[in-house]
Amino acid sequence: MKQLQNDPWIEAQANYSVGERYKGRVTNIADYGAFVELEGGIEGLVHVSEMSWVSKMQNPNKYVEQNQEVEVMVLEIDPDKKRLSLGLKQCLDNPWEDFAQNNPIGTKLKGKIQNITDFGLFVKVNNELDGLVHMSDVDWRKSGPDAIKDFEVDQEIETIIIDIDPSKERISLGINQLDNDPMESLDQIKKGSTILGMISPFSNQQLIEECAQRNINLVSMEFIPRITRAQKMDVLSSQANLAGYAAVLEAAQHLSSALPMMMTAAGTLKPARVFVIGVGVAGLQAIATAKRLGARVEAFDTRDVVEEQVKSLGAKFVKIDLGDTGQTDQGYAKELTPEQIAKQKDLQSLVCERSDIVITTAQIFGRPAPKIIDESTIKKMKPGSVILDMAVETGGNVEGSIVDEVVNVNGVKVVGVSYLASRVSSHASFALSNNIINWVTDFYDDESNGINFDFDDEVIQSSVLAYEGKILNERFA
Ligand code: NAI
Repeated sequence: MKQLQNDPWIEAQANYSVGERYKGRVTNIADYGAFVELEGGIEGLVHVSEMSWVSKMQNPNKYVEQNQEVEVMVLEIDPDKKRLSLGLKQCLDNPWEDFAQNNPIGTKLKGKIQNITDFGLFVKVNNELDGLVHMSDVDWRKSGPDAIKDFEVDQEIETIIIDIDPSKERISLGINQLDNDPMESLDQIKKGSTILGMISPFSNQQLIEECAQRNINLVSMEFIPRITRAQKMDVLSSQANLAGYAAVLEAAQHLSSALPMMMTAAGTLKPARVFVIGVGVAGLQAIATAKRLGARVEAFDTRDVVEEQVKSLGAKFVKIDLGDTGQTDQGYAKELTPEQIAKQKDLQSLVCERSDIVITTAQIFGRPAPKIIDESTIKKMKPGSVILDMAVETGGNVEGSIVDEVVNVNGVKVVGVSYLASRVSSHASFALSNNIINWVTDFYDDESNGINFDFDDEVIQSSVLAYEGKILNERFA
């Protein structure tokens, strides 16, 4: 979000158009003669916990006099009246969707409260939720007046807390974020509760240890096994699929030419060449998306079992013989030797040279991403071409790629975007919440009114990292 600096009025006129969002201090806005219009529900929308500023207003519909940071939407820029009108953001019909759409960082849990309450669970809702999900019209409250009480929430909602309360003979579901300071969040969680979510286990050892010490059960959705029955809970797949789609759109935006072939009166425009490296869930969707946009697509993966899948999407599989590669019983790639990586880099650089877009998705589960494109390859590529490194957050496949930056190397744009699935956050939230609800539904036991931690079940065995004070997965013990 842009932040205005000096004279917000002048700057806003120059930089903003109607409908854009603005974050600034109310005093500054009013000082410069901007007119601030307040909508109902503003208390929540500006995330102001103490509503003192509302009482300070001369006229609630005119100037706001509080040196509070607010997030506003530019409603009108009127040069005739020499003023700029600002209104606070309004809600869409579906507040959950609205929240997801307007908070592109991180995945949000689009709560299916109705579903949850249907099977008798109790959802805790904090007062601040109204603000955080931008709700003025709290439709969801209708889903069960008794169901919604106290809620712990912050801006990045991605973890669900299952709080088992024996005194009330019911279990509660809450939604929380553990991102900024997980330990502080843990202080608010009762002993015996269960945290369920995408917890990035390989970079969150301390969280796992703390949960065990505090007797909080911890379920890592990243460890859902790749068995047919658990596909509906597979968060890595649901998010990677959308990320693969978003990657193509993102890369296409950085390219100065179109993807499809066009035969026009002004001449024939050649289709773009797209090379996808790594054909897992994300790679397959990237291939399909690039094909739909009319590009010529080639792809490579160390697991040669994917050749048929690549061909079935109408793309060409690049054959690079690296000797013994293989895959694990979960379908993940095995780590290559340094010699194999060197050979791969060498042979695939020929394909990179002829490509307009290269999308890298190569990952090794639980390890840093392999570096498979180095600067010497980038330097051989055409100026104007684009490399999108989908593995940038786990170390990167491309030398020099930086999270959330576009690095220019000899005219080649190396693009690193964090959490690509959030570019389509509404669908990402929908899919993620379904994954989570599916886990809860499968393991919720009506009779005991709690989660059935049946360790004979493969899904429970794989995904529960801490239980009743013990770390169960030996990789983290
Ligand atoms: P991933 O995100 O771990 O890795 C992405 C891709 O990078 C993989 O295809 C991997 O082989 C490839 N890769 C690794 N090192 C590479 C290198 N040096 N060069 C080129 N490519 C490299 O993989 P993802 O997306 O999780 O999928 C892994 C497999 O699991 C896929 O075959 C997928 O279809 C399968 N799967 C099966 C499920 C099931 O329930 N049966 C569910 C989800 C995925």
